[in-house]
Order: sequence, then C-alpha cells, then structure tokens
Amino acid sequence: MSTPHNPLGDRQISRKSLLKAAALAGAVPVLIGGGTALARDTAAAGGTAAPLTPDCHDGDAPTGEQIEGPYFKPGSPLRTSLVTAGTPGTPLTVSGYVFGRNCAPISGALLDFWQADTNGNYDNSGYTFRGHQFSDANGAYTLTTIVPGLYPGRTRHIHVKVQAPGQPILTTQLYFPNEPRNATDTIFDPALVMTVRQVGNGREASFDFVLNVNGTPKPSTSPTGSSSPSPSSSPGGTTTWKAGTSYKAGDQVTYNGVTYVCIQAHTAFVGWEPPNVPALWSRR
Ligand SMILES: [Fe+2]
Repeated sequence: MSTPHNPLGDRQISRKSLLKAAALAGAVPVLIGGGTALARDTAAAGGTAAPLTPDCHDGDAPTGEQIEGPYFKPGSPLRTSLVTAGTPGTPLTVSGYVFGRNCAPISGALLDFWQADTNGNYDNSGYTFRGHQFSDANGAYTLTTIVPGLYPGRTRHIHVKVQAPGQPILTTQLYFPNEPRNATDTIFDPALVMTVRQVGNGREASFDFVLNVNGTPKPSTSPTGSSSPSPSSSPGGTTTWKAGTSYKAGDQVTYNGVTYVCIQAHTAFVGWEPPNVPALWSRR
C-alpha cells in the first residue's frame, strides 16, 4: 500500500515486507556494498542515506483497538496451541509478525489470545481456548487453535492482547473474511480481517500486528531488569553497534552486552539491531 505522500507509488518495497521476506527465506535485505534495497531511502535522498522517520510510509497504521468484551481472564497458560488431538472444531493456525511503527519486528512481544469453542462458548471457569505466548527473535508468532464458533450478537472473532516489552497493551479482535455476520456486527472492523486460506480440512490465517511503538524494540536477549544500556565503550577487538555504520562480513560488534559477527555487508539502520536481523548478524 502506498500513502498519498509516498513518491514511490505502489511498487515500493516496504521495510516491513523486506524484513519479513528476510526472516522467512534467510535472505539478506540489503544490497552488498553498503547500499540498501529500500527504495524509499535511496530515492528520497537521491541515492544517499535518508534521514530515518518514525514510520515506514508503507501504509501500515497501528493495528486498531477493539473492546475487550466480557470474557477476558488474566493468568492464561503459556502455550502456542489451544487444542489437543481430540478437540472438536475446524483446525486453524494463525500466524504473523508483531511490528513497531518503524517497521522493526518486535521480539518478545506478549500475545494473549482467548476465544470461544466450536459451539460459541467461552470457558469462564478454566482456561480452555486461552493462552499467551511471546513473539520470537524475528517478531513472529503462531497460534494453533480451531475456528471459533458463533454466539449471539457477534460475528466470528478471536480476542487478543498484544504488548511490546514495557509498552502499553493493545486490545483487539481478529476477524474472518466472508462471514455473513460481518455485515451486521457493529464491533466488526474490516481492517482486522485475517488472510485465511483453506488447507486440507483446516484453515491457515495470517495477521501482522503493528503496535504504536516507535524506536528500537528491546532485544529478546536482554534479560528483564538487567539490560545494560548501549555501551559507550566496547570490549577489546569489537565496536559498539551503531546505526548508520557500514559493516562488512566478519566485523564484530557488541549490542546490549552481546557480541555479534556480521554475516553480510550492509549499512546498519535503526530497527536492524543485531538481535532483530539474524540474516545479517550471528551471535558469537
Ligand atoms: Fe468474544
């Protein structure tokens, strides 16, 4: 998607898409030799590095908020699957990424899902169809569940709370395409419809969250409460990772006290901190 102020049109490659592609394929989202494959950056600055902006201009507004509803229950189990072999219902996986507005994937983001069973009932005494998980080092998440059933007054939906480490909670709901009740449910938001495809006897859905968080996401390797600030000095033989620096393969840096080795030559950008771009940096 392009925005009205985007001079590059619809063919622009977004940083978010690029990072996703890199994460999926293990590819490197840069041109070797210090250049960048991000059309926005090069075109906007006449071929030189452009100033970084808080968002990536690829049409990704933060994911919209929705009401929590009456059935949220804190303390859900840590698990990515809400089903067992005998759970009735249509199998469903929901997967995607958690991004910040700067298009950087957010690792360690909390995702807490809850939904109705295949008959449209919530478990309010236990934790059936409730579970939380954390996005991985690439910002990715996967939920294994079933297609939730319908209940009076609502279209088909899954509830979720998403929270980047130390940031405000986004409470929202995810919807299914081609549901007749989407047209009559006053809470329904078409911007929150997942991409869904039929696979065998089940369905695979995808949805990327964009949190209204700017700046650098906290690396997953940083332990809570004991993360070291960006060091101004570095251990012998390495330098401190710094945005704007051109790195070549073999260069060694420290980031939040962890040492990384550059795998591919690139120019570093905010959002491409070593823990976030495993295609570029290998932990030593
Ligand atoms: Fe609900």
